[in-house]
Amino acid sequence: MTCSNPYYREMILRLEDLKINGDLDGITAEKGDNLHRLFYYPAMMVPVIQSQIMAIISDFLPNPATAIDPFMGSGTSLMSCMEYGLGLYGQDINPLSVLLVKAKTAVLDVQRVQSAKEKIWFAIESDHSESVDVRFSGIDKWFTRDVQVSLSKIRRAIISLPDKEVRSLFWIIMAEVIRIDSNDRTSTFKLHQRQEKEIASRCVDVVGDFFALINRGIIDLKAFRNKLETKGTLVGNSYSAPIEIKWGNTMYGISSSSKIDILVSSPPYGDNQTTVTYGQHSYLPLQWIPRSELPDDVDYDYLRTTQEIDSKSLGGRSNKRQVKDLISSISNRIPSLGAFLDRVPPEDIEKYYKTVSFIADFEQSLDAIIPAMKDNAIYVWTIGNRFVNKQEVPNNQILIDLMANHRIPLIFDAERTILNKKQAKRNRSSRTMEKERILIFQKQ
Ligand SMILES: C[S@@+](CC[C@H](N)C(=O)[O-])C[C@H]1O[C@@H](n2cnc3c(N)ncnc32)[C@H](O)[C@@H]1O
Repeated sequence: MTCSNPYYREMILRLEDLKINGDLDGITAEKGDNLHRLFYYPAMMVPVIQSQIMAIISDFLPNPATAIDPFMGSGTSLMSCMEYGLGLYGQDINPLSVLLVKAKTAVLDVQRVQSAKEKIWFAIESDHSESVDVRFSGIDKWFTRDVQVSLSKIRRAIISLPDKEVRSLFWIIMAEVIRIDSNDRTSTFKLHQRQEKEIASRCVDVVGDFFALINRGIIDLKAFRNKLETKGTLVGNSYSAPIEIKWGNTMYGISSSSKIDILVSSPPYGDNQTTVTYGQHSYLPLQWIPRSELPDDVDYDYLRTTQEIDSKSLGGRSNKRQVKDLISSISNRIPSLGAFLDRVPPEDIEKYYKTVSFIADFEQSLDAIIPAMKDNAIYVWTIGNRFVNKQEVPNNQILIDLMANHRIPLIFDAERTILNKKQAKRNRSSRTMEKERILIFQKQ
């Protein structure tokens, strides 16, 4: 690791201090911070970590500067960047992530939300219809009739609101109600029905939950707005810098309107099907949110089945022949992956096809991201290794090799302990690892 420019040496010294004296493990993380409770999106980052890093790096960025998260998920990294007044570009393949991040980054005026809440309350109270407004295969498996009727009332009430930004916030709150009140278990990200006995005996109050979550959302929104106000990045009622939030497959490109100064992201650690099923977790809410409320450019093929988003995400390709053909070329380009695959007994190699496919797609995504970045851009990646067939896949070193192929060297490396191991273990997710690394790269 070398760094000759004195300006950046100072940045690295401060990052090294943070490694020693800061809290990269997130012990002091405030659980209610950054509106993250609006919808429990899988594998959320701990906001305080990104924020500590951004507090240092933002002093070394041009003014104005733009940040990107090309795998934005629930937007925790982008929201940390909002504390430092950076322009934002976020992208994700999951339409629910796009709606979620749009709703959070809009930092709506609390009064606007309060008065919409009153309208919606009146609309639901005076709606005595027993009709169910959506139809999709499996609806009766995932929702009892009573829940379908209540969700339909909420849906009609939200549609009646004229303010699109407020509607987006309420769609996300309805998504959280669906997560907790559907027949799907909340203990896994994969769709998994509760036992019939449990469904029959459960007492759910869909409308009550919806309003309780709106009230909690208002408290969190106020806290986030106060934080931005204190930092001086809220001007009047709006965020002080431009925001672009897009739906898109990062493998196929980034469509930001200007070149970007810094990347702050935690990418997936492996293919969605065998790590975290972000798409499956979002499937039920996406069936209830009207398509006209999703980003204009969403390809509806992505919403057809519970598997669709995950199979189109990084590592989702299933053509074994294609993957087999990839192995020797990719091993040459990425020495750490080559060395890993060399140690795999030939009879086990097929067990790593999904890993190879994921790395190839990640490589393709980097090829799409880097041209959107300024030449001296900073890349802050948080990534962890994962186990496949009991072998540790060296994602960290693979990322270092991939960045080196673009002649972008590693300038800082810190390890952090993942505290939320219980949920990760239960979900058998990529985050079963107890450690992850923060890897920072920049061309000198
Ligand atoms: C670990 S999460 C992101 C966490 C996020 N960076 C944050 O700061 O909260 C990974 C995200 O990558 C997205 N993803 C997977 N494959 C993708 C692709 N090909 N293009 C865009 N997003 C993708 C998933 O939908 C998921 O939301």
